Amino acid sequence: MAVMNKSKAIRVAPGLTCGVYRMSVPGDKSISQRVALLAGLARGESVVTGYLRGEDCLNTLRAMERLGARVRDTGETLIIEGTGNALVQPNNPLNLGNSGTGTRLLAGLLAGFPLSVTLTGDSSLCSRPMRRIQEPLEQMGATVRLTGEKGTAPIFIQGGALKGITYRMPMPSAQVKSCVLLAGLFAEGRTVLLEPAKSRDHTERLFRTLGVPLEMTDGRLELEGFGTKGPDLRGFTIRIPGDISSAAFCLVAAACTPGLRLTIEGVGLNPGREAILSVLHRMGASVVITPRDGAGEEPMGDLTVEGGTLQGTEIGGPEIPSLIDELPILAVAGALASGETVIRDAGELRFKESDRIAVMVRHLTAMGVQVSETTDGMVIQGGTPIRGGVELDAHGDHRIAMSMAVMALFAEEPVTLRQVECVSTSYPAFWNDLKRLGAQVHETE
Ligand code: S3P
Repeated sequence: MAVMNKSKAIRVAPGLTCGVYRMSVPGDKSISQRVALLAGLARGESVVTGYLRGEDCLNTLRAMERLGARVRDTGETLIIEGTGNALVQPNNPLNLGNSGTGTRLLAGLLAGFPLSVTLTGDSSLCSRPMRRIQEPLEQMGATVRLTGEKGTAPIFIQGGALKGITYRMPMPSAQVKSCVLLAGLFAEGRTVLLEPAKSRDHTERLFRTLGVPLEMTDGRLELEGFGTKGPDLRGFTIRIPGDISSAAFCLVAAACTPGLRLTIEGVGLNPGREAILSVLHRMGASVVITPRDGAGEEPMGDLTVEGGTLQGTEIGGPEIPSLIDELPILAVAGALASGETVIRDAGELRFKESDRIAVMVRHLTAMGVQVSETTDGMVIQGGTPIRGGVELDAHGDHRIAMSMAVMALFAEEPVTLRQVECVSTSYPAFWNDLKRLGAQVHETE
């Protein structure tokens, strides 16, 4: 069932099969897209192993092709021949599909070029806030018009001579930070970014790999721009680690199944991404990390989880940016744990591929969980029986689809999930991987 028929729904029956399993997860979505952008900019060939062939990353790659990069997929590796800072004018709008990362980061890159480009995407993407990138890019000197209804995409960008700015970010966001850093590469003078809390730092690590100097102190990043000629990046060879955000689904499923032991190999363990592991430890899960040689600047390791029972916890404060994408599956963990789980300080969840607070609360409620919605999170009373026999709509949000699929494994009866083709944006092999753990997953009408 590698490719799901788009018009069909998925029916997930309860239960996994106890046993000992090993698996790996596809490449990191955030890192893959950053690599596509920088390899497309570099001079000469880059050789990429582990690039995520999910829809988001393929859309970002196609956008770079439309801007002049050449891409060859050998199956084993992806070979990207960069433009050497000579992006070309595309004839039509670039469609980034569902990818907020691709859109926001590419907007930053395009701001440095004297091109006129429109970035667009699917209905979810075109409903996400884009003023957060418009503001700094305009301060730097680019023209950025948000032609959607409410400060949203399609985004028209006319770039050119940029100047460095000092920008205090209103929210911790790796996408906004990376957007400004990419624009800052092509600016005259210094770009200074002040972050209210630390967000994932894949862009900074990739800059370091490519020899772009960055000064970093607590909450402050400084980059000396290279002006309109841009940095002289050479093609590079890179390995992309497994995506911890994808690993999270099977980790939680296994952690809640006594008698199941699962090792997920080669997972990226960037300190800005691994807060889910601390939360699972707090909840009483047994997760052992076996470090492996890193993938360049990105640490990596194997995760072994032993199934058992979980207890509720509180999730909030500075750890939120480091597990923002894992909150839907952690809400499932909270529903399966005994006692109360509180998620707070996570208002940003309302601006993801769907309003993940509202949708998760609705779906958990439909499955009989006592959960209340707050402005910036939810409060879950876990450990009660999980009602099955329901139909849930994933609202085209991949992390909702996969979280509710895991929840369905613990229900009293099968659950039907609709609008789940979005899973292919980040984890095309998800249904197969669930089946490898013994899940009964079928297409249905
Ligand atoms: C991402 C950053 C996060 C995350 C998104 C990917 C990135 O968004 O939710 O899935 O690749 O930089 P924000 O930085 O907007 O919080």
